[in-house]
Amino acid sequence: MSAATGPALVTGAAGGIGAAVCRRLADAGAPVALLDRDADATEAAADALRARGATAVAVPGDVTDAGAVEKAVAAAEDALGPLDTLVNVAGVLHVAAVTEIDDADWRHCLDVNATGVMHACRAVGARFAGRGRGSVVTVASNAAGVPRTGMAAYAASKAAAVAVTRCLGLELAGQGVRANVVCPGSTDTGMLSAMGAMGDLPADHAALVRGSAETFKLGIPLGRVAAPEDVAEVVAFLASDAARHVTLQTVYVDGGASLGP
Ligand SMILES: NC(=O)c1ccc[n+]([C@@H]2O[C@H](COP(=O)([O-])OP(=O)(O)OC[C@H]3O[C@@H](n4cnc5c(N)ncnc54)[C@H](O)[C@@H]3O)[C@@H](O)[C@H]2O)c1
Repeated sequence: MSAATGPALVTGAAGGIGAAVCRRLADAGAPVALLDRDADATEAAADALRARGATAVAVPGDVTDAGAVEKAVAAAEDALGPLDTLVNVAGVLHVAAVTEIDDADWRHCLDVNATGVMHACRAVGARFAGRGRGSVVTVASNAAGVPRTGMAAYAASKAAAVAVTRCLGLELAGQGVRANVVCPGSTDTGMLSAMGAMGDLPADHAALVRGSAETFKLGIPLGRVAAPEDVAEVVAFLASDAARHVTLQTVYVDGGASLGP
């Protein structure tokens, strides 16, 4: 297991990948602040972490609201001390062909997946810069780098999240701050099940692994859908001192589905 980190703030902490990231960081000894839009779900996720012996605090908020993010970051530092790690996991998905995109859905995708990442990077990055240390990991998607039918809003928002994270990493490298990106492919969470239920993806994992010629979607060469822990493991490595010379990198955790762009 990678070395323990100091206090970490995880957005989207009540979701599938976010909760796995919180567990993984907590198991390495990091105190964790959990940010998610649903206050009850955030408290429940923090309770679950404390039940396994971790130090955890819920700082609920909506990442689209800059003031709420600033408040959550301040509350996290009041409770846990100066943050060492920010993990951007909060995300939403809207599926539609470009010719049919709903304006509100487009804005929601960009607001959460791109502007939300900027809000957290801005609030936490400003603190990191003054301290000469810190690590940011943004969970984007392999859709950020590979065209997919029905995914334009999501892919555009994730490509923007990648760009924000890498620009931050370049701006703050001289101050000892690192910023990296993890791009998952199909991962077994509520978001994937919702896509299956809406008919936007095959509901069964075997079909996801096979891929779909009609939608030009390759299968998954490693032959399985990811568990949230597969993504969390790479996030934890990039956040830790074990990756102290790694910055501005994008790691695809998709079983080879995008052929390693
Ligand atoms: N599951 C997959 O197949 C997959 C693949 C690639 C990328 N991702 C990305 O991984 C991340 C985690 O997704 P997941 O699969 O765990 O989905 P999930 O739906 O289980 O979790 C997403 C979390 O983000 C939170 N969230 C949404 N909007 C928010 C907002 N405005 N403010 C604060 N929190 C908000 C939700 O409440 C939820 O807890 C997302 O960014 C997603 O785009 C997932």
